[in-house]
Amino acid sequence: MTRAGALALDPRRIRELFDLRSSVYASRGGGFETDPYPAFHRLRETGPVHAGVVGPLVGFRDPDAFFQGLPFPDRPHFSAFDFATCDAVLHDEQTFGSSPGEPESREFSYSSFLFMDDEPHLRYRQLVQPSFLPRRMHWWIERWVQPTVDGLIESLAPNGRADLNVEFCAPIPLLTICGSFGMSVAQALDIRAAVTSDGRGTGKFFEILAPIVAARRRQPEDDLISVLAQAEVVDESGRRHVLSDAEIQSFAFILLAAGSGTTWKQMGITLLALLTHPKWLDAARADRALLRPVIEESLRWMPTDPMFSRFARRDARLGGHVIPRGSVVHLCLGAANRDPARWERPDEFDPSRPLKGHLGFGTGPHVCLGMHVARAEIQTAIGALLERLPNLRLDPAAERPRIIGMYERGPTAVPVAWEAA
Ligand code: HEM
Repeated sequence: MTRAGALALDPRRIRELFDLRSSVYASRGGGFETDPYPAFHRLRETGPVHAGVVGPLVGFRDPDAFFQGLPFPDRPHFSAFDFATCDAVLHDEQTFGSSPGEPESREFSYSSFLFMDDEPHLRYRQLVQPSFLPRRMHWWIERWVQPTVDGLIESLAPNGRADLNVEFCAPIPLLTICGSFGMSVAQALDIRAAVTSDGRGTGKFFEILAPIVAARRRQPEDDLISVLAQAEVVDESGRRHVLSDAEIQSFAFILLAAGSGTTWKQMGITLLALLTHPKWLDAARADRALLRPVIEESLRWMPTDPMFSRFARRDARLGGHVIPRGSVVHLCLGAANRDPARWERPDEFDPSRPLKGHLGFGTGPHVCLGMHVARAEIQTAIGALLERLPNLRLDPAAERPRIIGMYERGPTAVPVAWEAA
């Protein structure tokens, strides 16, 4: 990805594709303005497990809401709000699986490893895992993250103000993952439109990906599609085979869907947390190493995706409820991350608190595959802003930004000003 390439995104389209209030995010409650955390506390205290779905339980009602575990109108639904229950369910794959267990009518691929359990899940996950380990982070940073960050800052610096939410946080993860697939900057927004279409845009995505897969099969390069094109998997009968085109497509689709929007929103949340807590902004400016605990605290305090779900594989009991086999169990990671049984003053953003495992990246066998990439992107990006934009601060002339959204949460904007050279 060249520096100039990082700048070539159509500003109108990027604004439309990266605005939680736009129709793109309606099915995930992107425009939901109510702060759900008071309700999360109440539900934990009066539960911790309730019959029903997290959204309606906190006042967001949309029968067409679409997310992991939704809509599944014909199944019983339960939601858990405390750390202990969410943590236990995420570790108990034998009782609570990620696969719905039967094909759904909606045109969406459940063949991805996000929706698999047990051996097949591990087998597929391990194919790409080496590219996502901490020791590979320099590969991600040097090849894709740093050039994109540098190019964006270079173009923004003379302006003295920006909405970092769309002008900075949105392009970085999208161009990182598209770059790692060998896709051009020009294709990036079509790709984003395809992955935010509730499964309906897969055709366009595959159209762009197919020639890249074919080219990498002929001549591997130093990128992720080449890793997938060369990967071999052992099937149930013990035979080794290279991944089929369909398997590579579904792999790539889930990496893009899981990696581009989450990091955009979490980077914005982290920036906003710093900008509205000037003590921590000054501390991180003085000592960039503090960004690590700042990022972990942002993921605990305000995880961008506050709910993930599992399907009961057998009858179970949870928090005093009988959970029939086939039920959907929603795990409110946002509420679990503010459980006072685990964290003192849980509503405070305090990066100096003792580090304890949070659920912002999930936990157990499906723990976020891209978590080190996400951390590297956020740390590289915010570190560069603090280094190169003097006196970076919330723009006092802009409308005060808010963090909104139900199943996807993030800032309305990250308006900033700095001393332009
Ligand atoms: C701050 C940004 C991110 C957040 C908050 C986040 C959050 C999560 C969470 C909570 C899960 C667990 C889902 C479950 O248990 O069902 C997950 C899984 C996953 N994430 Fe992330 N993620 C982020 C960035 C990324 C990135 C950058 C990538 C890839 C480049 C990625 C790829 C994945 C994949 C492939 C899975 C499925 C893993 C599996 O099923 O084994 N994520 N993510």
